[in-house]
Amino acid sequence: MVIVVVGTQWGDEGKGKVIDYFARDVDIIARYQGGANAGHTVIINGKKFIFHLIPSGILYPDKICVIGNGVVVDPVSLFEEISLLEKNGIKVDGRLFISENAHITMPYHKLLDQIEDKFRGKGKLGTTGRGIGTTYADKYNRIGIRAVDFLDDDVFYEKLKIALELKNYLFREYYKEKMLNTDRIYKEYKPVREKMKKYVINSVLFINEMIDKGKKILAEGAQGTFLDIDFGTYPYVTASNPISGGVCTGLGIPPTKIDKVIGVVKAYTTRVGKGPFPTEIKDFLGEKLRRSGNEYGATTGRPRRCGWFDSVIVKFAKTVNGLDEVIITKLDVLSGIEKLKIGVAYKYEGKTYNDYPLNTKIFSNCEVIYEEMDGWNEDISNIKKYEKLPKNTKKYLERIKELTGVKISGISVGSEREQMIKL
Ligand code: GDP
Ligand code: IMO
Ligand code: MG
Repeated sequence: MVIVVVGTQWGDEGKGKVIDYFARDVDIIARYQGGANAGHTVIINGKKFIFHLIPSGILYPDKICVIGNGVVVDPVSLFEEISLLEKNGIKVDGRLFISENAHITMPYHKLLDQIEDKFRGKGKLGTTGRGIGTTYADKYNRIGIRAVDFLDDDVFYEKLKIALELKNYLFREYYKEKMLNTDRIYKEYKPVREKMKKYVINSVLFINEMIDKGKKILAEGAQGTFLDIDFGTYPYVTASNPISGGVCTGLGIPPTKIDKVIGVVKAYTTRVGKGPFPTEIKDFLGEKLRRSGNEYGATTGRPRRCGWFDSVIVKFAKTVNGLDEVIITKLDVLSGIEKLKIGVAYKYEGKTYNDYPLNTKIFSNCEVIYEEMDGWNEDISNIKKYEKLPKNTKKYLERIKELTGVKISGISVGSEREQMIKL
């Protein structure tokens, strides 16, 4: 049985919380794309954990976690996370595995990511600076270093030398930066490579064997549909495929074995970094949402841009991910807003768009057509049953359901594991 959990907006929808919630009922939690750009928050009894590379199910001591071949792995970030978990009494050995085919993020990837984004000038993307795009670029340029190469002394040295030859040319000639030394990096990474050995496996065979044995797998998406390299607001996207289809290439799970796709939908919209965001609220109300929703990046600490719920993008997310159901998160944050707006269509040069236009020029310059609804004042964060929600809250959810065509199977009303209303 394979269940996919995917972000339906621009990331930070609350996937960490939702994955942690569902993880109790599965055997394996596996990441299929992205890297340490992700920041997935899980809060248990007031204690906060933020996961960048390790799947959000790791807090359950009996669960297996897999970092798939589609993920780009920065060993420095990985071991920081492992030691933080160990300090909190959570052991990962014997139940955390990394695919042999996952590509490794090296120091030059991070450096180049930061330099490139600076050099983009007005075209700056506002990346997380974690070397994501540059690691994927090397993968597709066929000069990447996979986990299996990383572990082999000779192969690693050779690949590092080849990669650095080109990178150093760029650093020296183009960016006027200091060059990186192959031998020094090789030496520095020796203990890291040793530590990594015990985690690396053939995860494709492992996961498929587990599926055949009847085990339950939860595939954890990072980022969100509109950061997808193919379907997002290109070029303001990440360098991987967060959509559900990414599970097939990022874990080696065939499409015929995916049973269910669950979308995570924030009750409003946020975005970090640059890029079009039609329903963005630029006045004090945006600031209010940021404050009450604590909308600051879990990875970079940057303030998140906040806006109204956009039903057009979520409708597209349903289509492209094949969503069976969704969990609405952070509904509690909307309490106390007199009038709520929902984006229902866009207008550009006199034409109305009821569907998400893949043309970024239209999406960047369109006007939003809104519907307005009455809000509610009640604190809903301790409500456990749908029937107990205020009348206007139910109306808001009903309208989201109608406009997007998605079935709502759960509502999250707070950051703690148990603050969830099941439908
Ligand atoms: P992810 O990247 O999708 O996992 O989301 P993040 O962890 O980056 O951001 C979501 C933030 O919202 C975190 O700080 C969560 O603790 C918090 N959160 C998740 N669900 C809820 C909710 O229903 N209500 C409130 N108030 N906070 C939530
Ligand atoms: P989670 O998994 C929100 C954004 C960055 C930037 C763009 C490209 O926590 O939802 P990158 O470093 O990936 O090359 O940056 O993508 N971004 C995210 N925004 N949540 C994330 O992850 C993100 N990961 C990347 O801010 O705009
Ligand atoms: Mg996040």
